[in-house]
Amino acid sequence: MTLIIVKTIREMQKISFENKRKGLKTAVVPTMGFLHNGHLSLIKKGKQIADVVITTLFVNPTQFAPNEDFNKYPRDFDKDFKLCEDSGSDYLFLPDTKEMYPDGFSTSIEIKGITCKFEGEFRPAHFSGVATVVAKLFNATLPDFAVFGQKDYQQTLLIKKLNDDLNFGIEIVVSETIREIDGLAMSSRNTYLSPENRAKAVSIFHSIEAAKKVIKEGDTDRKIINSVLLESLKSVPELKVDYASAALADTLEEPDTFNSGDEIVILMAVHLGKTRLIDNSIVKIP
Ligand code: PAJ
Repeated sequence: MTLIIVKTIREMQKISFENKRKGLKTAVVPTMGFLHNGHLSLIKKGKQIADVVITTLFVNPTQFAPNEDFNKYPRDFDKDFKLCEDSGSDYLFLPDTKEMYPDGFSTSIEIKGITCKFEGEFRPAHFSGVATVVAKLFNATLPDFAVFGQKDYQQTLLIKKLNDDLNFGIEIVVSETIREIDGLAMSSRNTYLSPENRAKAVSIFHSIEAAKKVIKEGDTDRKIINSVLLESLKSVPELKVDYASAALADTLEEPDTFNSGDEIVILMAVHLGKTRLIDNSIVKIP
């Protein structure tokens, strides 16, 4: 089937109402484009669980700080269209900025708690931009399911909270992180990396693996786990760490020691050259 482009919220809602009336279940996959296999895995997951998949493509200005990369965020519409179609998406919701934020737009969704630390500490306005745009995308596409990548772990917690607190009634599906062969998590921003830094970026994955190893060997002291992460990252001296820590996976709390059976997330954000990269992995305390 050919991919249908929808540019207005009204038209998208009309299509979604009609699909609902026919008894079809819809999954939405929100993206900012420059699609890679990580995004495509979400579209394929959507196809497995729903009858209709809507991929959304909108580079959302409100989740970028003025000093961040909104203007140079990579864009390649023709390639995205083809990849999206080949992966089985039925619709591509492609609003422009005026459609999403018309003159006079003045609402912002603030989620407290889990958004304050880690990404929230280093990108203070980011999560309210994400929450607001995702709420609008949900209202435009009226989905039964919404598929997000574990790659942006804190974002998945925020989306679940948004969905619960504002009663969207959507089933939020979190799909595994897709990696390059050497382990680097796929990201639209990897394209910014010079070949030298691309080679060094794999140290992010290696540091998470090193921390997981000591956890599996019985370490439960968070400071020790974090020091393993940081020591491992030091193998690339030019890498600047925003944060690198183990935390409880559901609340992001950071107790001094973890207990047997705790599900924890190891998460980090680092700068390599001008590129900021994030990654995470979930592990159970034995
Ligand atoms: P974007 O960075 O384009 O990511 C879109 C979706 O793809 C997110 O759910 C993200 O977690 C997922 N994703 C990215 N890299 C992945 C990988 N390597 N493996 C699996 N999934 C991956 O996240 C956003 O856009 C925006 O914040 C958005 C939710 C669209 C709101 O503007």
